[in-house]
Amino acid sequence: MRKTRVCQLLGIEYPILQGGMLWIADAGLAAAVSNAGGLGVISPMAGMPPHGNPVENLETQILKAKSLTQKPFGVNIPLDLRDCGLILDLLLTHKVNVVITAAGDPRLYTDLLHSGDAKVLHVISSVKHARVAESAGVDAVIAEGVEAAARNGFDELPLFSLIPQVADAVELPIIAAGGIADSRGIAAAFALGAEGVQLGTRFVAVKECIASEKYKKAIVAATDTDTAITCRSIVPSRSLKTTEFTQILLGMEEAGATEEELREFMGHAASRRAGLEGDLDNGEAYCGSSAGLIHDIPSVAEVIRRLVDGYPEVLDKL
Ligand SMILES: Cc1cc2nc3c(=O)[nH]c(=O)nc-3n(C[C@H](O)[C@H](O)[C@H](O)COP(=O)(O)O)c2cc1C
Repeated sequence: MRKTRVCQLLGIEYPILQGGMLWIADAGLAAAVSNAGGLGVISPMAGMPPHGNPVENLETQILKAKSLTQKPFGVNIPLDLRDCGLILDLLLTHKVNVVITAAGDPRLYTDLLHSGDAKVLHVISSVKHARVAESAGVDAVIAEGVEAAARNGFDELPLFSLIPQVADAVELPIIAAGGIADSRGIAAAFALGAEGVQLGTRFVAVKECIASEKYKKAIVAATDTDTAITCRSIVPSRSLKTTEFTQILLGMEEAGATEEELREFMGHAASRRAGLEGDLDNGEAYCGSSAGLIHDIPSVAEVIRRLVDGYPEVLDKL
């Protein structure tokens, strides 16, 4: 696979990132991805109890990842997380190589993270936000389309038109996210102007992921039409619509439920209930529209091998 600016920037063999995943992207998964030549990414609350301490949890995860891999790995921080400042402090203390910020203003912390020699990537979902990220001095943007699992941008731009517009607007390397689960997606993203890809849903349905088996099997069983976006007025999020939880949520929205009613129904840690506990009836099973391309639960190394080996075959067919 092509060595791109993303490989050079992050010190990785293949320009393939495993996306941050709120409760489930732990050190074991991240290290497996990094050891296979991609960039593994840890989320602060991975594997944590519902009301645990994300700062303490993240420190444990970082130390564990360092014991499992010598390769670079990253940490994802949703900037609206309550303990965000303390988490940034922790990342500087432990000299984490790559920090991926999301859901907030990249101008707040990019300089601080650079002072600790971290590479900073920021998740964007529109040209406007890509420009802001570039002006903030980030090293690369992750352009996430509406196909992606979990939180989506309010404008719901599909990846196919988002990447080239971002490529026209900024000089930064672009990492494409949303709907990519095989080599065809990577080749398409590169053709549109990306120099790396970030996969989320594909890395849930792998052996090393701590997600519940029920959740993984539901992803494997899902077809092209089995995901939906809920909570458009608060935090648009893509999840499996085959679950009772999402069906109720969609029904409430159609009936005009207020923001308070929706928040009350979702409760605390809804995606943890589905993701870690496997309670798909009472939790939010985040899932991207690429689920229809996912048919098994292999190891991380096997996923990366397929992505890399399949890439020249796709190019040959063009
Ligand atoms: C269970 C789950 C949780 C996620 N949580 C986060 C998160 O905390 N922060 C973030 O930036 N992205 C999060 N994402 C998005 C991924 O990092 C990634 O960009 C996205 O899944 C890519 O789209 P795909 O699922 O179609 O591959 C999450 C995705 C999943 C599947």
